[in-house]
Amino acid sequence: MPSSRIPGFYRLSLDARRDCVADWADLSDDARNALSEVSGLDQALAERMIENVVGVYGLPLAVATNFLVDGVDRLIPMVVEEPSVVAGLGYAARLVRDGGGFHTSVDDPVMIGQVQILDVPDPAASRQRLLASKDALLALANEQDPVLVRLGGGARDIKVRSLESSPVGAMLILHLHYDVRDAMGANAVNTAIEALAPRIESLSGGRVGLRILTNLADQRLVRARAIVPQGALAMRGLAADEGVQRIIEAYAFAAADPYRAATHNKGIMNGIDALALATGNDWRAIEAGAHAFAAREGGYAPLSRWERNADGDLVGTIELPIAAGTFGGATRVHPKARVALDILGVEHAQELAGIMASVGLGQNLAALRALAMEGIQEGHMKLHARQVAMAAGANPKEAQVVAKRMVEERAVRSDRAEAILIQLRSGAAQ
Ligand code: MEV
Repeated sequence: MPSSRIPGFYRLSLDARRDCVADWADLSDDARNALSEVSGLDQALAERMIENVVGVYGLPLAVATNFLVDGVDRLIPMVVEEPSVVAGLGYAARLVRDGGGFHTSVDDPVMIGQVQILDVPDPAASRQRLLASKDALLALANEQDPVLVRLGGGARDIKVRSLESSPVGAMLILHLHYDVRDAMGANAVNTAIEALAPRIESLSGGRVGLRILTNLADQRLVRARAIVPQGALAMRGLAADEGVQRIIEAYAFAAADPYRAATHNKGIMNGIDALALATGNDWRAIEAGAHAFAAREGGYAPLSRWERNADGDLVGTIELPIAAGTFGGATRVHPKARVALDILGVEHAQELAGIMASVGLGQNLAALRALAMEGIQEGHMKLHARQVAMAAGANPKEAQVVAKRMVEERAVRSDRAEAILIQLRSGAAQ
């Protein structure tokens, strides 16, 4: 794999960037063509994906550079509408690269399917009977998907939880732990628990209600770690270790305050969602899991942590559940999602999940650095001004001039953009 550090990438034209990425990832002709198609999804395919289709909705697909994850260079495909996300991530990945890149550890891809059991006459005895039949239940679950079992996945464990009180009284909840390998896993685990339901009813003497996976996929945790040498954070007018201190203080704010933690985690999910969307993954499932995990101790906490090591360098860690797949769902159906996986060069879900956690940590670093060391408005304003200029009808070249003028005037508004554009076009703008 060549280096993902590509100086001047952002300055290339869109076509040159696309060629550069296609060459870098050695894309097939089909993949190259899919990359350059405007919508990336034809209407006939869209019709087969969901109901009541009336069109196809486009979003920018970009690539963040500089990533080194577990010693492997990666270009990160991202689908996102918000300016600064991609540029910020590439910048943060460069800082982390100076410290040796991201290092990940990924659990087996074990999803949890939940079965709700109501009207149980003797919950303690039912629980015992269900647990005593664990092997039979696991075997029955495994009969549902022999291919998955052959690939090394399948049923792993059964847990039974007792909910003593709910708005309708007590209930038992059976959890099936199910290794879904490279799938996101929803269909596989839902099919398995569906098949268990009649046996669960007869063993428990109760009535089965819901059978559905939980998005709090806490058997499927992913961790990433990054070191940023303090020198990499030296900035105009700041002592070398001041940058480290400011980022730790920004993290401390999130650790102590759920209002800040929500925004801190939103920044993390900016990156993870963009990669999930690019690869055709269910980003709502990943979001739900991340926020439920952040609240697992009762309060709402940041998903990442920043501290200083003995050398005075900045160390970041992140841990969250990531139910991402490289197989099934839209990952192989959407032509651009397939290309995104080709650009990433991943085959397996665990590899993808490790990269997602790294992207989340990198995105968090980008936001904290910008907030604590620059004030995010500065960078944001420039990009926002360009969007306002384009929305007012400016072409990319005009947008640069219009945006610069609006930022100088501290008046980033559509009426100002339109006025400057008229001046520019009439040759009156200086
Ligand atoms: C904006 O989309 C994300 C940030 O607000 C995240 C943060 O505050 O950490 C910049």
